[in-house]
Amino acid sequence: MAKLFLPLTLASLLLLASSSPLASTFDYGEALSKSLLFFEAQRSGKLPANQHVKWRGDSGLSDGFMQGVDLVGGYYDAGDHVKFGFPMAYAVTMLSWSLIKFEEEIAAANQLGNTLDAIRWGTDYFLKAHRQPNVLWAQVGDGDTDHYCWERAEDMTTPRTAFKVDTEHPGSDVAGETAAALAAASIGFRPFNSSYSNLLLLHAKQLFAFADMFRGKYDDSITVVREYYPSVTGYHDELLWAAAWLFEATDDQEYLKYVVENSASLGGTGWAVLMQNRDGPYNATLKQYQAKAEFFLCANLQKNNGYNVAMTPGGLLYIDDWNNMQYVSASAFLMVAYADYLALTNSKLNCPDGQVPPQDILKFAESQAEYILGKNPKSMSYLVGYQGNYPTNVHHRGASIESKSILPASVGCTEGFEHWYDSKQGNPNVIFGALVGGPDQLDRFVDIRSNYEQTEPTIAGNAPLVGLFAKLNILSKGQGNVQTEGKPKPYSEAGVLSKATEDLA
Ligand SMILES: *[C@@H]1O[C@H](CO)[C@@H](O)[C@H](O)[C@H]1NC(C)=O
Ligand SMILES: *[C@@H]1O[C@H](CO)[C@@H](O)[C@H](O)[C@H]1NC(C)=O
Repeated sequence: MAKLFLPLTLASLLLLASSSPLASTFDYGEALSKSLLFFEAQRSGKLPANQHVKWRGDSGLSDGFMQGVDLVGGYYDAGDHVKFGFPMAYAVTMLSWSLIKFEEEIAAANQLGNTLDAIRWGTDYFLKAHRQPNVLWAQVGDGDTDHYCWERAEDMTTPRTAFKVDTEHPGSDVAGETAAALAAASIGFRPFNSSYSNLLLLHAKQLFAFADMFRGKYDDSITVVREYYPSVTGYHDELLWAAAWLFEATDDQEYLKYVVENSASLGGTGWAVLMQNRDGPYNATLKQYQAKAEFFLCANLQKNNGYNVAMTPGGLLYIDDWNNMQYVSASAFLMVAYADYLALTNSKLNCPDGQVPPQDILKFAESQAEYILGKNPKSMSYLVGYQGNYPTNVHHRGASIESKSILPASVGCTEGFEHWYDSKQGNPNVIFGALVGGPDQLDRFVDIRSNYEQTEPTIAGNAPLVGLFAKLNILSKGQGNVQTEGKPKPYSEAGVLSKATEDLA
């Protein structure tokens, strides 16, 4: 079952901008490599030879074929096997943003190749899903039939119906979100593969034009998504989000003009975006975007004159019982990104309750990361497989059923419920690096498989961890001054066997 998705933070913040060491007992390098491994566990399609997560096999090999399209690949959303285009695009955007912002930090942790691979697994799929300018395949499988069964992806018997948006059935939100993902990934790939980067950008531009010209909410066109990832805030925010990323990717003033001129009509200044300083004629509007971003940050930092985000007694930001951790990871990422921007411009965050220097923002972000990794009332790591005490009954079909390599016979739809879902044993496969939904508002957490609000991981929740952990890793090693504008390291497929494999061996 997939949780409701980021109505607050999804596409609601864009910081297009560019310390002192923190003493830490946590190994953020290990946390980083593991959080990337989770994306391997979520891979659909034909797995590559360098797949590290060995309990997974090929799956979804005829996705899209019923409709005459090849939609093999991409990511399963969570503990289920639907490929939801909207959160997948958000996850790829956040992975790409992590890479753009913290490339040196990721490289220093030897995770550059794994990060690029995680992004490309998503973008290769988006390219398949977008073969004509005004058609985007936005979903494969559906929540209702998928959730009826508890089986491994490799055994899937559920319908793999594909759903699209087009000129007559528009979906500006999903098309805009995918355009943003491709534009961001195009920036991320530029130093490593310029032809691939250009290809991603071409698709991003086409998708944005499609989203803008044929306007509509995608859940009016793909109604089966409504119970899972509805278009909560409409499509206006995604249009602005896509245009902002396209401006960042192209430097084309037309996109910036779009963001500014539509800021009121599309509600942009009603939520938080911040643009970099390439903005002469548009300062006033961009200042409004910045004010919204700062309001959001101050509220998270508990410095907003009483209008703050709630926190648990144990010190975790608290938004919702259902997969609260996705909000925590996104907020903490935005804090480290903004702290970097402030440090670069030698400034502080002005909150209603006082000025906050970048180091204090980093400290707050780190408090959230520490909570995630075990500094909490349950002394539990909500990142699976990190240190000794972590959830063992993760709500995840593949992790909860013995691997095909050990149990080759198919496990049927309802058989999976009887033998595996209802089992009192812990999962046979440790799904390393999965960020589960996490505790409730009183830091309570019940590690049972049926408790999907707390024990299910999602790709959307995991993606911002990459930038967060990469930054904290550098800081914990006392190398807080790593510049993000440095020369990119050469990337080679062969050189990327990560620390993760050693850890797992
Ligand atoms: C760049 O991307 C293209 C298109 O996906 C791929 O065929 C090629 O092998 C990549 N080049 C490198 C150097 O990775
Ligand atoms: C916009 O802001 C930048 C940086 O703060 C400044 O250099 C520039 O003069 C401003 N432009 C206008 C038209 O106000």
